[in-house]
Amino acid sequence: MTQAHQAHRSGPAEGHGVSRRLGVPEFLRTGTVFDEVTRARAAELVGRYPQSRSALLPLLHLVQSVEGFVSQDGIDFCAGTLGLTAAEVSAVATFYTMYKRQPCGEHLVSVCTNTLCAVLGGDAIHRTLSDHLGVADNGTAGVPGAPGSVTLESAECLAACDHGPVLQVDYEFYDRQSPDSALDLVTALQRGERPAPTRGAPLTDFRTAELEIAGFPVDPVTAVAGPSASVETLRGNELAERTGQSAPPMPDHHEIPPLPEKK
Ligand code: FES
Repeated sequence: MTQAHQAHRSGPAEGHGVSRRLGVPEFLRTGTVFDEVTRARAAELVGRYPQSRSALLPLLHLVQSVEGFVSQDGIDFCAGTLGLTAAEVSAVATFYTMYKRQPCGEHLVSVCTNTLCAVLGGDAIHRTLSDHLGVADNGTAGVPGAPGSVTLESAECLAACDHGPVLQVDYEFYDRQSPDSALDLVTALQRGERPAPTRGAPLTDFRTAELEIAGFPVDPVTAVAGPSASVETLRGNELAERTGQSAPPMPDHHEIPPLPEKK
């Protein structure tokens, strides 16, 4: 039995000290599933929130940065760290699609197949990549985590409809794709190359992206060095400026309307 299992079985509050915010909990000091650096990062995450359970979402991303997915050990690590049950952590990990229950490739390719991108070619892009990689949706070509391995998934709207059809690699955007350009991109990834995203930070890999999402930027300077908002996205702003339109001023404070009386 791992120490993670033991910590979970001992119950949420037992053996972890009275206040996790005042020091590193026993579980984090003695757990063997994740290394010392990861346990220290987990403790830092817990300390960022008034209630430790609020750290669950970033903690799951931290687990993915180590494992490339959320394993049962990862579930137990989160449960032991936060004083939750494994069932509570599993409920969250299986609800959000960003938490992977199968090992991911070096890169995660997410093709938007939501309505707008789909009619512009998103479905064709996904089909082309699926045929090329020889995997179905959520499948991984190559040994998960090994260089050049790629996991393919279809994604709901990625909030970049003005650039459709879009795909993301490790959550970085590649705009206005076609089956051919997507194929070029993925074969480059398989060769170990990292083509520059259209916007955003330089491409890294899935695990590094997960570490950043967890709240630990690897390189804060390059993380914000890439191109940001696009011409298309700013077009509405420019039009408003040209025609003298502006948003109403923000109120100094928001009145909270009273709740309607119960009848
Ligand atoms: S439908 Fe693809 S980004 Fe919105």
